[in-house]
Amino acid sequence: MREKVLVTRKLPGSMAEGLRSSFEVVLNPHDRNLTRGELFRMAEGCAGMISLLSDTLDREFIESHPRLKVIANCAVGYNNIDLHAAAERGIVVTNTPGVLTETTADLAWALILALGRRVVESDRYTREGRFGGWAPELFLGTDIYGKTLGIVGLGRIGAAVARRAAGFSMKLIYHSRSRKPELEKALGAGYRELDSLLAEADFISLHTPLDPGTRHLLDRRRISLMKPGSFLINTSRGPLVDEGALVEALASGKLAGAGLDVYENEPELHPGLAGLPNTVLLPHIGSASTETRVKMARMAAENLTAVLTGRTPPNPVPLPE
Ligand code: GLV
Repeated sequence: MREKVLVTRKLPGSMAEGLRSSFEVVLNPHDRNLTRGELFRMAEGCAGMISLLSDTLDREFIESHPRLKVIANCAVGYNNIDLHAAAERGIVVTNTPGVLTETTADLAWALILALGRRVVESDRYTREGRFGGWAPELFLGTDIYGKTLGIVGLGRIGAAVARRAAGFSMKLIYHSRSRKPELEKALGAGYRELDSLLAEADFISLHTPLDPGTRHLLDRRRISLMKPGSFLINTSRGPLVDEGALVEALASGKLAGAGLDVYENEPELHPGLAGLPNTVLLPHIGSASTETRVKMARMAAENLTAVLTGRTPPNPVPLPE
C-alpha cells in the first residue's frame, strides 16, 4: 500500500506530480493556507508532509498524528515546528538550506537600497502625479556608499549579505553567537558585541534564526542603543524584534527607517507600522524568486522521499536530545 503524504499548499514547479509516482498525495485544494482545523484533518493517516513556515506544527498537532515519520519544511527556518515533540516521536524534520541564500541576500539589499534612497516613497509620489520637475531637495536620502553595515548572525545568508557590501565600499561589522575568524578575514569584517554593533552601524541587517534565545533579541533596551538615524533591515524572523518598541523608535525619528520582510505576529502588522513613511514593508518574500522556490520545493520532496524510502535525508534539522 502506498503511503499517504500531505502537501500543505501548491508549490511552484512539478514537485507534487513527481511525488504521485511513489505516494498517495493529499494536496491543499485551495489557493490559501490551510486553517488549523483543515491541517489537522488533512494530515490524518499521513506518513509524511511537506509544510510551510506558516503551518504551526506544535505538540498538539504532532501528538494527534501518530503515523507521521517526516516533516519536510519548505523553508530554511523551522521555528514553526515543535522539535522536542518531533524528537520524542522519532519524527525526522528537514529544511531547505543553501538554495535560498543568495536570493534572500538580494532582498535584504533591495531593502537597504530602497530605504537609503527612499525608492518606495518617491515611486508613490511620482505615480500620484506630484512630480513637478527636478528639485534640489526632493527626496533627499542617505548615502549607502561608505557607510557601516552591521550584520547580526553571520551564517550563510548573513555572509552573502556581507559579501555584497564590498561593491558599496561599506565598512563591515558583525555579531554572531560564535566568532568566525576565517570569514572575518575573507570579508574584512570586524567582530563586535551586539550592543556595540547597534551603536556603531548605519544599516543593521538581521540574519539569526528564531529560537527561544533570540526572541526579542532587539528589545526596547537594544533598540534604544541603536545609532540615531540608523536603519534596521529584517529578512529573518519577526519575533527577533520588539515590534512595538520599533514602531515607537521610528515614529520618534530616533531611527531613520526600517525595511521589514517579516513581522512579530505575521501576517499582522503592529498598529502604526503601516502608517510610517520611513518603512518599506514586504510580505515575507525573501526567497521568492521562481528559480529558488522551485529548488526549495524539489529539495523538500527529496527529503520527504528519502525518509519514507528508508534513506538518510539530505537536510535533516538537528533535533534536541
Ligand atoms: C523563509 O523565511 C525561510 O525560512 O525559508
